Amino acid sequence: MNVVVSIGGSVLAPDLGANRVEDHADVIRELADEGCSIGTVVGGGGVAREYISTARNLGANEIELDQLGIDVTRLNARLLIAALGEAVVPAPVKDYEQAGEVLRDGDVCVMGGVAPAQTTDAVSAALAEYTNADLLVYATSVPGVFSADPNEDPDAERFEEITATELVDTIADIEMSAGSSAPVDLLAAKIIERSGMRTIVLDGTEPERIASAVRYGDHEGTDVVPEGVGDEPTYWAEDER
Ligand code: UTP
Repeated sequence: MNVVVSIGGSVLAPDLGANRVEDHADVIRELADEGCSIGTVVGGGGVAREYISTARNLGANEIELDQLGIDVTRLNARLLIAALGEAVVPAPVKDYEQAGEVLRDGDVCVMGGVAPAQTTDAVSAALAEYTNADLLVYATSVPGVFSADPNEDPDAERFEEITATELVDTIADIEMSAGSSAPVDLLAAKIIERSGMRTIVLDGTEPERIASAVRYGDHEGTDVVPEGVGDEPTYWAEDER
């Protein structure tokens, strides 16, 4: 099975803790040992936001701020690389072609941001599309896709399953309201829609949840099932726990 796992910076490194990074690395290593081809994309989280707001106050322009954000995503990616040890690239991969080569060689690929004016949500979707992944998993700090921003709207409800087109519409609505934050960004949702990529959005703060989603399709987040995708992927094993 060929999977891309997107790990938000606020999930992997809300603060600098070796144990948390180690726990995520353990899950990735286990899945790789089971024969899974894994591309991981790491976000910048709160640290990236702090650097960006400080540099904005210093007069940096938006592209410069994005470059700073990319640097922080790559720092976080280096933490994961440090914890993964062998069978992983020695430095964060910088583009999709290089990522494809790493995966073809049978290694775990770890990357952060790629180019300005997007986030690692979109990088993850693009990597999944480029490598023709069976599954894309967003390990975020929220428990799935909601009908509205749950921090802003008490009536927001979590979707168990939505189509990619519904994902695009939902995210577009959430992004329209100032200050709201969506679990994945609109560009990522559009890439998922065009590629027909089966996607799961879940709370990834407990890394074992990522493992269950990849192994069995078992999770408490949101399944994004693009139109035309079959009912149940054949790669999911029966959960025999
Ligand atoms: P993130 O992907 O971490 O943004 O990238 P985020 O939405 O805050 O995600 P979480 O909180 O980690 O889940 C951090 C910043 O880096 C720049 C953008 O400015 C983004 O806001 N970035 C990242 C890019 O410009 N291009 C990229 O490919 C990735």
